[in-house]
Amino acid sequence: MNEFQANRRKLLGAAAGLTALAAPAAHGAPATDADWERIAQSYDVASDFINLENGYYGVMARPVAEEFKRNIDYLNRYSSFHLRRQFDNEGMEQIRAQLALHTGVAADELAITRGATESLQNLICNYRLLKRGDTIMYCNLDYDAMQYAMNDLARRHDAKLALVRIPEPVSRQAAIDVYEQAMRRHPRTRLLLLTHINHRTGFVLPVAEIVKIAKARGVDVIVDVAQSWGQLDYKLPDLGADFVGANLHKWVGAPLGTGFLYIRKERLGAIGVERGDEDYAATDIRSRVHSGTVNSAALMTIPAALKLHADIGVANRGGRLRALRDHWVRQVRDLPNIEVLTPDDAGSYGAVTSFRVRGHTTPEANAALVNRLLERYGIFTVMRRGPVGGACIRVTPGLYTRTADLDKLVTALRDVAGG
Ligand SMILES: Cc1ncc(COP(=O)(O)O)c(C=O)c1O
Repeated sequence: MNEFQANRRKLLGAAAGLTALAAPAAHGAPATDADWERIAQSYDVASDFINLENGYYGVMARPVAEEFKRNIDYLNRYSSFHLRRQFDNEGMEQIRAQLALHTGVAADELAITRGATESLQNLICNYRLLKRGDTIMYCNLDYDAMQYAMNDLARRHDAKLALVRIPEPVSRQAAIDVYEQAMRRHPRTRLLLLTHINHRTGFVLPVAEIVKIAKARGVDVIVDVAQSWGQLDYKLPDLGADFVGANLHKWVGAPLGTGFLYIRKERLGAIGVERGDEDYAATDIRSRVHSGTVNSAALMTIPAALKLHADIGVANRGGRLRALRDHWVRQVRDLPNIEVLTPDDAGSYGAVTSFRVRGHTTPEANAALVNRLLERYGIFTVMRRGPVGGACIRVTPGLYTRTADLDKLVTALRDVAGG
């Protein structure tokens, strides 16, 4: 059997493994500290600094990174022959089928993209149901590129923009209330963007509840799950939204340049084809994405990432990440000069949590503190702007983070905030 045939068998093997992936038995529970230490050791990360900026992208675990390297080599040897005869159709279809099992929707409601930005830009920019004078709505915590896309949509359709401001401090009910009030104040709202876990504070928006309110008012909802997909334990239908954009290179741990969009079958007509695509029929969701020649080795690695992800189990992963987050937040929440922006209520947070030193509200002050944390303590974080109370610093552990690393952050925060 030559290498090409072996790879084909791998593709067929992946197809055969689809049902196994869906079975709960595949979700072995790493319960002990020793299990988590073993998992932490499966990430080859630099040890000369403490990386608490895992909201940017999710480092691949070693088995996924090795599969990615094998795929780069294989693709380089078989190049267009592999892409035309194995991957572009069969391989991509198998990935859609696997994603369907993971997401709980049909494969023909999913299209593969290069990440959440492409997914969401395509959904927002090609939204077809706006009429002149309609309102479209987003909030101050949504991702910048999606805010830009909403602004652009409003300009092109002569629509009004309504900005929701998420209060600080926030709670699930407070968030529901501000959206409900905003939709009442703007009765011509037609389209709403929601971000499940925003990248500024990490607050988990009660999406399903807000979608229900929106739908009752005839408002369509596009949900950005870039930070929640692979981290929170849910299936796409749980959100109730008809349009969702995700990536796989954050919390699923696939290579960079991987994602997908979802459009509920009955709603495909609400989103136009991407830049006049004619490769697929307008009734085929794949016409909503036209990426051109992409990093196929990254896409070819999606099955390995999904498998590892399912083997650990999304509930286990999410639980572990929340426990790591709690480990540092519990120790600093009551320090007099530290404001933790992300609430502790169950269901309101995941791995991402932000803080600011009281009174330090400018981006410059927070960027300076990020530098100080790195230079003096070897701890890498990131400044975020956008919350109503001012800029902040985002802290995001990953599955390779040790509690000792978080204790160092706590010591540093006590030091810089004088607590
Ligand atoms: C909330 C949110 N939305 C969208 C994106 C964009 O995702 P991607 O980098 O996959 O395009 C990010 C990335 O950080 C994000 O945090």
